[in-house]
Amino acid sequence: MTAPTPAPDRRRILSGIQPTADSFHLGNYLGAVSRWVPMQDSADAFYMIADLHAITVEQDPAVLRHRTRVAAAQLLAVGLDPAKCTLFVQSQVPEHAELAWILGCLTGFGEAGRMTQFKDKSSKVGAERASVGLFTYPVLQAADILLYRANAVPVGEDQRQHLELTRVLAQRFNARYGPTLTVPEPEMVKGIAKIFDLQNPTAKMSKSADSQAGVIDLLEDPKSLRKKVRSAVTDSGHEVAIDPENKPGVTNLLVIYSALTGRSMEDIAAQYGDSGYGGLKVDLAEVVVEWATPIQERTRAYLEDPAALDSVLAAGARRAREVAAATMADVRERTGFLVGTSLMGTA
Ligand code: TRP
Repeated sequence: MTAPTPAPDRRRILSGIQPTADSFHLGNYLGAVSRWVPMQDSADAFYMIADLHAITVEQDPAVLRHRTRVAAAQLLAVGLDPAKCTLFVQSQVPEHAELAWILGCLTGFGEAGRMTQFKDKSSKVGAERASVGLFTYPVLQAADILLYRANAVPVGEDQRQHLELTRVLAQRFNARYGPTLTVPEPEMVKGIAKIFDLQNPTAKMSKSADSQAGVIDLLEDPKSLRKKVRSAVTDSGHEVAIDPENKPGVTNLLVIYSALTGRSMEDIAAQYGDSGYGGLKVDLAEVVVEWATPIQERTRAYLEDPAALDSVLAAGARRAREVAAATMADVRERTGFLVGTSLMGTA
């Protein structure tokens, strides 16, 4: 099995998502996953389901395995094509953990302790219960990226600090051991529709919100989708207008409407104008259902045949491993490990 040879000017990109929910939500979709689809044509794209990252907090094994398949099925359902990109599961490429160890030995304890995501997540459970894996989460993420010598990493703003650490670690490795790793460009995806919670429109839509009433799941049934959209919190007044300051609720609905239909927010705002929020919500509910339904059908079809799904992922992992193994061979040699002896086949 050989990797498709990218044209020399074709950038390599890598991105990942954790399989920690029963469904992606609208924020995941508009903020990340939907952006991955066009990039499989313009770049040599590696997309990863980050199950090693998922276990930084406790996971039930059967649930994790199921969610990994659900994540893969949804990614295929929204349009990732295994013939165009490399879609794989992180734990199926053991080089991730191996490089993470080496990079961890190049990371300062204080440096890792300054990562804000760790500080947020660990403060929720307390230092005794936060895992060491949660602490080294950004180091594993750096390994994900550096293994593939990715030129760019399309992620949202919340991942900026992790990307910066990745660059620092690549530069540090190269300075200490000689040029080996590619320093990726930070590429915060611009114009990304940032989606807010429908019940709390100043907070990011998030699966870790206390209530899921304002979180739109891709795999949610139509009845519940309609209910959530129709009961979205809106602002005082009744004029439909783009005003993130004073009308965060309505503006969020316009952002979603625009992102799912391709129509401009101005156009949509003009259509509803002073006819009140009700009509906007009713119509948006239908837009959301029409968006979700075909994706749900395709997701279900992929999940009906887990063996076929697993073999798509196995092919992705084989392709990913070829690249990862080549990087690791260089890294091992540079680091000073014994190389050139194969342990396999000597028994
Ligand atoms: N930390 C990312 C997130 O929570 C997921 C992720 C893991 C990732 N490894 C990655 C993203 C490598 C980009 C590149 O969204």
